[in-house]
Amino acid sequence: MLSESSAAIVTATLPVVRAHGEAITGCFYQRMFAAHPELLDLFNRSNQATGQQKAALAAAVVAYAEHLTGAGAAPCGPILDRIAHKHASLGITATSYPIVGRHLMAAIGEVLGDAVTAEVAAAWDEVYWLLACELIAREARLYTAAGVGEGASIWRDWRVTEVTPEATDVRSFTLVPADGGPVPGFVPGQYVSVAVDLDGGLGQQIRQYSLSGAPGADHWRITVKRVRGAGGAPDGLVSTVLHERVAVGDTLRLSPPFGEVSAVAGDGPLVLVSAGIGLTPAMSALEHLAATAPERPVVLVHADRDAAAHAHRDALPGLYAKLPHLRLKLWYEETTEDDGAATPTAEVARGRVDPELIPLSPDTHVHLCGPLPFMNQIRGGLLRRGVPVERIAYEVFGPGMLRGV
Ligand SMILES: Cc1cc2nc3c(=O)[nH]c(=O)nc-3n(C[C@H](O)[C@H](O)[C@H](O)COP(=O)(O)OP(=O)(O)OC[C@H]3O[C@@H](n4cnc5c(N)ncnc54)[C@H](O)[C@@H]3O)c2cc1C
Ligand code: HEM
Repeated sequence: MLSESSAAIVTATLPVVRAHGEAITGCFYQRMFAAHPELLDLFNRSNQATGQQKAALAAAVVAYAEHLTGAGAAPCGPILDRIAHKHASLGITATSYPIVGRHLMAAIGEVLGDAVTAEVAAAWDEVYWLLACELIAREARLYTAAGVGEGASIWRDWRVTEVTPEATDVRSFTLVPADGGPVPGFVPGQYVSVAVDLDGGLGQQIRQYSLSGAPGADHWRITVKRVRGAGGAPDGLVSTVLHERVAVGDTLRLSPPFGEVSAVAGDGPLVLVSAGIGLTPAMSALEHLAATAPERPVVLVHADRDAAAHAHRDALPGLYAKLPHLRLKLWYEETTEDDGAATPTAEVARGRVDPELIPLSPDTHVHLCGPLPFMNQIRGGLLRRGVPVERIAYEVFGPGMLRGV
């Protein structure tokens, strides 16, 4: 709980902090990286370049301050869960919070200038530490659940046993623990962080990849789309390394599985909606259901550029055979006459997914994964059709969450 005097100050200064949120977080990152260049290896450099991370951090701090002062409409729990899982997948511990707090407070002072009196600074420091304590506690619980002891590293070496081309610019990597130890379980929808060393001594970068195979197997599988730079932007740092440099027999540094979003929520009808590489959690869900709950009614709605871009398409007939109540609805921007023959079990349409045509039952649970505009469109359509908001789970393959959540 925020003290009464701080609550009044935070309420009064929230509009100005909200208005300058991204300037504050931009200044914060500059200050923090200047003082701690080693942290550049922990943060996603491309998110720094495109500004996505500073927007997510500013939105989280403002949302939490709104929650503390009663000005926020949306609950903060989902945001805190998302951040805690992401932090845990990066191995962030309580010892780093004073560094972030110090530079964030300094950035607030630098951007807002004289408006930040000692009382204002103390009130926002209180907000920061209430938020930090909630995150530290959540993260500690996640480490315990993942079997990571206090102060132990999250990273473990995994050996690549297969590299499988899945579609244009998409490859799967099959992985087993290099130490021959057990393969941890996970929930479909969870992801692992992968840490790679960049060429030319440029340090390390970490990215998250959803596990695309079934839990309970003697290996893990991730499926990675190679990100090619467009319009003068550079190629993706990590996906390019994985595609160009990683071969069978190599090892990769992986975190335990984390992620707050289950792709198999409930036990009734399930609709999995994906676009492009966003189908990786859905593939894990389908393989899991084929092994554990084959009678469950499930619809896979998938959108892609064309059949050649559709990863794991060849696995669909096999899944269809194992899941008698599976319905496959594919939307391709470009279709050819061969599409139906290659996927005889699927209904293939041309164009964009129409949420009105997604089969629903009253108790359907939905999982969405794809680009943000795609998810906003589908989620909006499903909400209009009466699907309760709490039955629509979604995963974002980048920082931040959907609007209005
Ligand atoms: C929970 C989660 C699960 C995920 N699961 C998967 C998965 O299953 N499969 C998968 O393939 N991906 C997945 N991702 C995405 C993945 O983590 C990476 O974001 C993706 O592989 C791109 O990383 P990269 O290092 O190759 O590209 P980055 O280097 O991160 O580049 C990303 C984009 O930023 C642009 N960019 C970089 N610098 C600049 C600049 N200066 N100016 C303009 N633009 C710039 C690049 O051109 C590129 O388009 C997931 C992400 C999350 C958060
Ligand atoms: C109260 C304090 C903090 C808040 C509110 C916060 C908030 C956030 C948010 C909103 C994200 C994006 C999550 C997502 O949607 O993917 C994030 C990611 C991240 N955070 Fe924090 N964070 C805090 C503390 C820390 C600390 C102490 C560290 C360690 C130095 C840290 C390092 C990171 C990193 C490395 C990422 C991933 C960034 C990226 O890959 O682009 N954070 N944090």
